[in-house]
Amino acid sequence: MATEKKYILAIESSCDDTSAAVLCNTKVLSNVVATQEIHRQYGGVVPELASRAHQQNIVPVVHQALAKANIDKKQLSAIAFTRGPGLMGSLLVGTSFAKSLALGLDIPLIEVNHMEAHILAHFIEDEDTGQPEFPFLAMTISGGHTQIVKVNSYFDMEVLGETLDDAVGEAFDKSAKIMGLPYPGGPLVDKYAREGNPAAYPFPKPKVEGLNFSFSGLKTSILYFLQREARKNPDFVEENIRDICASVQHTILEILMGKLELAVRQTGIQQVAIGGGVAANSGIRARLKDAEHTKGWKTYIPKFAYCTDNAAMIGIVGYLKFLEGKFTDQSVAAKARYAIGS
Ligand code: KG4
Ligand code: ZN
Repeated sequence: MATEKKYILAIESSCDDTSAAVLCNTKVLSNVVATQEIHRQYGGVVPELASRAHQQNIVPVVHQALAKANIDKKQLSAIAFTRGPGLMGSLLVGTSFAKSLALGLDIPLIEVNHMEAHILAHFIEDEDTGQPEFPFLAMTISGGHTQIVKVNSYFDMEVLGETLDDAVGEAFDKSAKIMGLPYPGGPLVDKYAREGNPAAYPFPKPKVEGLNFSFSGLKTSILYFLQREARKNPDFVEENIRDICASVQHTILEILMGKLELAVRQTGIQQVAIGGGVAANSGIRARLKDAEHTKGWKTYIPKFAYCTDNAAMIGIVGYLKFLEGKFTDQSVAAKARYAIGS
């Protein structure tokens, strides 16, 4: 029997990207992302400016997603939206918009946890990337989170470990800021690291028990190191940016891979997936691919477009919840703190 076609409109507005997507079952028909450039000049996301920009972007972004998918609002089966976690003012824009549209169209409303969506993005239908089988381990690495999650099924996830302070994306961005690179620095560190020597400057790795992470110490040791070097040579950063970036990235990757290895040993699960903005990093992608040969893992890496914040990942969760009748009513409220599996 052929599966009935369901069209889901998904809305993501948890941080500084306004995004809308249309899915037909597990297939992405459109995925429009408006990245807010305004934050660059402040060196980080300014919450008040983010929510204002979401208000300006949301209508055109949704229109564009529908137009690109060639779908009329009347064909939609449900509206999915990010309920949290994220910035309250930003979440409110997407939440209120989704609620009103679902009410107006008289179709079901589906709330989605942003972090679960980063993990379930692996179930978007794609010719190139396979889909993990349950149970698998997922490492979510983004600007707001760093977690290792045991995924037993679509809606049964257990957090095995997480960061005690900064998220890994923050470690990238803050290190980049110390080097004078613009926000968000993660992709730039990645770019320079490709041409540098990862062993040039060894930075200490934090000693954190079990599967938890800590990144705040790294930022401090980079700061002290660069201040010390700058006293000897004021052009130190400029002259050695590639080696510094490669060394910083190497330290971060060693931390991430070390914890993943421990998680595999502890659980006996060798299927490993990554998700979140930092999953776009070329170094972590290469290290994971390597582990297929060197460690016998089966690894899953999302397409670039489904790593950083996007509505397609919200749409796939929307569809999976739709199949199970997991709808929400109009009393639903945005949730700035929203734990996985809660
Ligand atoms: O998932 P995401 O788009 O937003 C959050 O939910 O936080 O992640 C954004 C984070 C930023 O810290 C950004 O610097 C980082 O992902 N990022 C990268 C790369 N691309 C994005 N970090 C390192 N290398 C990259 N290529
Ligand atoms: Zn995210």
